[in-house]
Amino acid sequence: MRKKVIAGNWKMNKTPSETAAFITELSDKVKQTKDIVICAVPFVCIPAALKASKRTKIKIAAQNMHYEDKGAFTGEVSAKMLVDLGVQYVIIGHSERRQYYNETDATVNRKVLKAIKAGLKPIICVGESLEQRETGVTADFVRYQVGYALNGVSSEDMKNIVIAYEPIWAIGTGKTATNEQANEVCRTIRQALNEKYGRKVANATYIQYGGSVNVKNAAELFSMSDIDGGLVGGASLKSDDFCKIVNYKG
Ligand code: 13P
Repeated sequence: MRKKVIAGNWKMNKTPSETAAFITELSDKVKQTKDIVICAVPFVCIPAALKASKRTKIKIAAQNMHYEDKGAFTGEVSAKMLVDLGVQYVIIGHSERRQYYNETDATVNRKVLKAIKAGLKPIICVGESLEQRETGVTADFVRYQVGYALNGVSSEDMKNIVIAYEPIWAIGTGKTATNEQANEVCRTIRQALNEKYGRKVANATYIQYGGSVNVKNAAELFSMSDIDGGLVGGASLKSDDFCKIVNYKG
């Protein structure tokens, strides 16, 4: 049985001084969970988040990284810098980065390979647009994205990979994919992993759903056969809501 991986993506919200209190409050409320709880915080909040999450259930993720080790890339942060701080996870290829910062499947793949090499666990985001869903190409498109992102990733490395299926039309819109829609694409991703790596790896890989996950819909979504938790945006910013989502079993 796979655990659930429940990650809050804060996006560009909360300041470093708001971070410690939030993580401390949250950690108290999620003490009992057997699942994996992650907060993906802005770069500048990472030191405070790591300090406050020490000896708690909460793991800290970055929301992005660069694919080069170092150099003249003003404003960027490398995998090595994150590892040096003590970060364990990194979100790669979020649709907002693909949309606003020219992230492509090729750069996503380079970042994934670099993250693994540095010892970070990538949370790789994939997902179709509304137009793609309406055209009926969702399965093909998501398979393509997953295949591209994992180009050069070994079976052995797969134990450190999380995949987040986030349909773009469901992000921040209040429009959640139905349980069946979300599960179907997560199952398609698992099938693609099965073809590439075999059943054992496919069955062991965590595949999250993200897109308007909230207190009301989390339990149903997380009970689906191929959904192993969620990547939660807006609802992860309130500790009461996020802890209810983490404790979805009630
Ligand atoms: P919302 O939960 O706000 O829709 O955001 C989802 C998301 O993008 C998580 O990465």
